[in-house]
Amino acid sequence: SRRVTVRDLAAAKQRGERWAMLTAYDAMTASVFDEAGIPVLLVGDSAGNCHLGYENTVPVTMDQMVMMAGAVVRGTQRALVVADLPFGSYQESPQQALHNAVRLMKDAGVQAVKLEGGERSAAAIELLVQAGVPVMAHLGLTPQSVHALGGYPVQGRGDEAAHQLLRDAKTVQAAGAFSVVLEAVPAELAAQVTEQLHIPTVGIGAGAGCDAQVLVWTDMAGMTSGRVPKFVKKYAELRAALGDAARAFQDDVRDAAFPAEEHSFH
Ligand code: KIV
Ligand code: NA
Repeated sequence: SRRVTVRDLAAAKQRGERWAMLTAYDAMTASVFDEAGIPVLLVGDSAGNCHLGYENTVPVTMDQMVMMAGAVVRGTQRALVVADLPFGSYQESPQQALHNAVRLMKDAGVQAVKLEGGERSAAAIELLVQAGVPVMAHLGLTPQSVHALGGYPVQGRGDEAAHQLLRDAKTVQAAGAFSVVLEAVPAELAAQVTEQLHIPTVGIGAGAGCDAQVLVWTDMAGMTSGRVPKFVKKYAELRAALGDAARAFQDDVRDAAFPAEEHSFH
């Protein structure tokens, strides 16, 4: 069975079919989502905070991305796997972007890469696309700029910011991006961008008007500790379930209830 392709995603927009994307950082989780039929998996640099224990996405390295992306590719058969280019891996020059995108494709085996920024990243997107690398763009809230933004505020509020977002969206489309993530932007603006583009928009905190939706898997499944953003819907309580399993195992060991006869060799 072949993998989903960027052409399939373009055709879905033509047919008005919506699709879901989830993040994945390892082979086991990726295989669960692949078996569930999620068509696109994102090896996001959200791994920084969700998987690797950092404060934010800034410290994530290319070596870490290649390791995680390779695992996600190996854990899947059908999903299109997209990997983030991490902070510092594409801003120096389009050539740097191509060098690192090629690493993700050749060393990890991903089918596409994602990078943040509109007009500021257009030259990099253009070179990658010319070289045969499918590129997903990422506009609105761009978490790699957390220190410049002073946090994670909603983007595209006000006429000036809204016009800039529309310009950025048209620029990444013209540069050849096959899709664009819209993060933390007003629903009305995201719907307007979606209408004006022929490539699919993938919303996160961007309302119901996008062509597709993405969530960070640990948020979506209730694995994240503490508060999650307003735009997250929790579809499970895995953190509680896993904690319960660990406590039950520990209790059984203390009570000599595990291992039982059926778990023992003679
Ligand atoms: O890294 C990530 O998980 C992302 C998605 C939130 C779009 O970039
Ligand atoms: Na990301």
